[in-house]
Amino acid sequence: MKFQTIIEPFRIKTVEPIRQTTEAERRAAIEAAHNNVFLLKARDVLIDLLTDSGTGAMSVFQWSGMMKGDESYAGARSFDVFEKSVRDITGFTHVIPTHQGRAAEHILFHTMVRPGDIVPNNTHFDTTRANVEDAGGIALDLPIAEGSQAVSNHPFKGNMDTAALEDTLERYGDRVPLVMITVTNNSEGGQPVSLINVREVSALCRRFGVPLFIDACRFAENAWLIKTREASMCARTPRSIAQEMFSLADGCTMSAKKDGMSNIGGFLAMNNGSLAVKCRTRLVLTEGFPTYGGLAGYDLEAIAVGLNEALDEDYLRYRIRSIEYLGEKLLLAGVPIVTPTGGHALYLDARRMLPHIPQSEYPAWALSLVLYIEGGIRAAEIGSVMFGRRPDGSEHPSELELVRLAFPRRVYTQSHVDYVAEVVQHVNGMASRIRGVRIVEAPPVLRHFTAHLAPAHGRLVT
Ligand code: F0G
Repeated sequence: MKFQTIIEPFRIKTVEPIRQTTEAERRAAIEAAHNNVFLLKARDVLIDLLTDSGTGAMSVFQWSGMMKGDESYAGARSFDVFEKSVRDITGFTHVIPTHQGRAAEHILFHTMVRPGDIVPNNTHFDTTRANVEDAGGIALDLPIAEGSQAVSNHPFKGNMDTAALEDTLERYGDRVPLVMITVTNNSEGGQPVSLINVREVSALCRRFGVPLFIDACRFAENAWLIKTREASMCARTPRSIAQEMFSLADGCTMSAKKDGMSNIGGFLAMNNGSLAVKCRTRLVLTEGFPTYGGLAGYDLEAIAVGLNEALDEDYLRYRIRSIEYLGEKLLLAGVPIVTPTGGHALYLDARRMLPHIPQSEYPAWALSLVLYIEGGIRAAEIGSVMFGRRPDGSEHPSELELVRLAFPRRVYTQSHVDYVAEVVQHVNGMASRIRGVRIVEAPPVLRHFTAHLAPAHGRLVT
């Protein structure tokens, strides 16, 4: 390319104001939210990086598609549009719309998994794990070793450990109803899975006669990272890489709130006809009729367009570059982050930034509070508050203490990213004055959503 600057490949037609607040206002807001950013009012947040799920901006083509939504209960034209779009990209025969990703997981696992079964995955996302376990199964994570190392230059830290998968299939093959692979690997830092790895996993599954399903939430970002990081892939389009990836599997679950570029929606897709019949039967009980499955006709239209927009090269270049750009700025300023940067988010490494805070005082949680108080940025802790409690109620520190800055799609511009970099650098500069937090009250499961916390030593910052 003749020019180096990578621009946002869109112009802005509708704007949503965001509100500046004073530090005093933010202190009051976080106190009222019991020191939990999930309990803040969104209007009190300046830059919201809590999640990239359902928070993106839709295009004019998606909005105009929505006006064409066919809201017929059965046989809606919008379903045909949706089905065609999903089939063109995934190649799967049976396409079952759901209201979001976890609904697809619920239907799939409750149809395929019997008590005591084992479901291997590179790393299960929380809802995926919860749905496997709810069906009585054992959710087995088989990431490669680099996956849990904060600092690495492995280009595909999201990969599955194929030797461990082979061992699992050899030992317990008859108890494995399906294998899943999550692209990108959200729980290991939004890190991609290589096409070579998907090919190897697929070959193993075929050898053992076990179906392979892809957790496809961020399939387009993964395809771009394959294109740019995997030798021999640079000349291919993200679409053709995604198509090959899906062709190696027997089905997928999808949250259209991510690379469907939509605010709600998802689907389950597969080639096996008798499995599809069983899944549709369950769909009618929990979601809706098979041609709308928990969505409005206009949602199906938005997703049909969004899936294709997610594969646009200009968009993906901007998308992945903005995370990488933030990563470069922070590394240059000496801020500890997870490397390499991945698809949808940048992860701050709180154990290295706040080595004086013991894990029992939740360093990443404390960091998320200071980011909000100092700069109005909302980001989620991925650490011991989220993962630090065993099913029997005992505490155990999580391997990493991270804060995830997840970027909504097409929402923030480079100046927003520059602002985030400035705030994070400032917070890094005051790291030695940040103190830990303690849990005041919390529910037994998924405690991070609603827990109440307080500074462990009177003040959060000394
Ligand atoms: N799988 C992965 C890898 C995910 O990241 C998510 C959601 C789901 C499944 C479930 O999809 O939310 O539509 O039901 N991840 C969001 C996040 C919530 O913030 O990472 P859903």
